[in-house]
Amino acid sequence: MVVLAAGQGKRMHSRLPKVLQPIAAQPMLAHVLATARQLKPEALVVVYGHGADAVRAQFTENDLRWAFQEEQKGTGHALLQALNHLSAQESKVLVLYGDVPLLQPATLQRMLSHPAERLVLLTQTVQNPKGYGRILRNDAGSIVGIREEKDADDREKEILEVNTGIMLMPGQRLRGWLSRLNCDNAQGEYYLTDVVALAVGDGVTVESEEPGYPWEALGVNDKVQLAQLERIHQACEAEKLMKEGVTIIDPERLTLRGKVSCGRDVTLDVGVILEGTVVLEDGVSVGAYSIVRNSRLGCGAEVHPYSMIDGSVVGQDNRIGPYARLRPGTETGHSVHVGNYVEIKNSSMGEQSKANHLSYIGDSTVGCRVNIGAGTITCNYDGVNKHRTVIGNDVFIGSDTQLIAPVTVEDGATIGAGSTIVTTAPAHQLTLSRVRQTSIPAWRRPRKIDKPKS
Ligand code: UD1
Ligand code: CA
Repeated sequence: MVVLAAGQGKRMHSRLPKVLQPIAAQPMLAHVLATARQLKPEALVVVYGHGADAVRAQFTENDLRWAFQEEQKGTGHALLQALNHLSAQESKVLVLYGDVPLLQPATLQRMLSHPAERLVLLTQTVQNPKGYGRILRNDAGSIVGIREEKDADDREKEILEVNTGIMLMPGQRLRGWLSRLNCDNAQGEYYLTDVVALAVGDGVTVESEEPGYPWEALGVNDKVQLAQLERIHQACEAEKLMKEGVTIIDPERLTLRGKVSCGRDVTLDVGVILEGTVVLEDGVSVGAYSIVRNSRLGCGAEVHPYSMIDGSVVGQDNRIGPYARLRPGTETGHSVHVGNYVEIKNSSMGEQSKANHLSYIGDSTVGCRVNIGAGTITCNYDGVNKHRTVIGNDVFIGSDTQLIAPVTVEDGATIGAGSTIVTTAPAHQLTLSRVRQTSIPAWRRPRKIDKPKS
């Protein structure tokens, strides 16, 4: 199997090589390789050229063989570079494109089910064939060649059946055909498509298959097409989830960039983004415009709008957000509430604890049934090192408290609002550090001094 991926993609206007442009946060080439691998090829060769270092650096899997095409002299020339990396016995050579990322394995399976000595093209009948190579058939309907748009006459240009570029060829014949290609055409390139006429001349039957879905063979040449394919891909992902029972309020406004597994009765509101590995247990709901990345949300957890949950394990029946941020290393027990503008990092919160408003909890161990008042800050960083804050069970922390770590608040302690806590707050006592309130009866407000008139 060979993936052609040497092209530059000028119309992307990007420093990123075309095949590294992302669909669902993965390079297009990664999608193609994933599809290819599902077919268990004997060899998987990537023809690369433009952005060589960047492309190689992205793919380090050792099942890949790399064929460098220094100058892009056409698809036929590209495939020629791959030949030395294929075993001479390879009976079928399937050619894929690195910029056609949505091909489905089932379509390729159908191509592969043809007898090995045939040449099989993936063709498609389209409304607007502009830019594609046209499929030439004889009166009997058999394929006799492919004409590139730039070489086609007016009649040929009217043909609506086009070459998707995906081709399956008998390996033993391929070497001979490629060596017979020339660049005597409008673009001065070695066209892989010319192999078709050579095959016909050699008495090889050329057959065709169509993609299972009309969008499968769409290629990406610019950012408009990149966005279109992204949405097609996302629609497929959303459909899979809905068929598993997930409620998606607006499938056109869901983005999946990884693997998600959902229990029963999961609801995803508009604008949700799920990234990396995400597990949503039964009854989880994720509110509008929230992002969940590499996290597990326990049964019945509710994430309210505009929240960001990253690298966290959220307990069952939690209420998170709106506007909450859980950073990596956050773990919560059941029935925890995290409200607006609360940031938690590398911390655990025991069951039924609450931090409902405007707090930062970092590098902390928080017990069960703790109430963290509005504006509480764990001062975990002394400018050089990070330190832990330990809060026991049944603690009440008054609003606007700073806990200067390392520090411990023992079980059942109450911290008065506005305190700065620097040493252990003992169990079951009220601790507060606050300037005593005073009033000055004789005090008068300053009066505005009249400016002298000029
Ligand atoms: C090719 C086909 C055309 C088909 C169209 C479908 C040829 C001659 N024409 O045209 O019939 O309708 O695809 O999109 O094959 N590549 C290399 N090295 C090269 C040239 C291309 O690796 O020297 C790679 C590109 O990165 C790309 C693929 O081959 O992945 C196709 O190249 P592209 O230039 O897009 O081919 P088209 O001219 O569009
Ligand atoms: Ca193209």
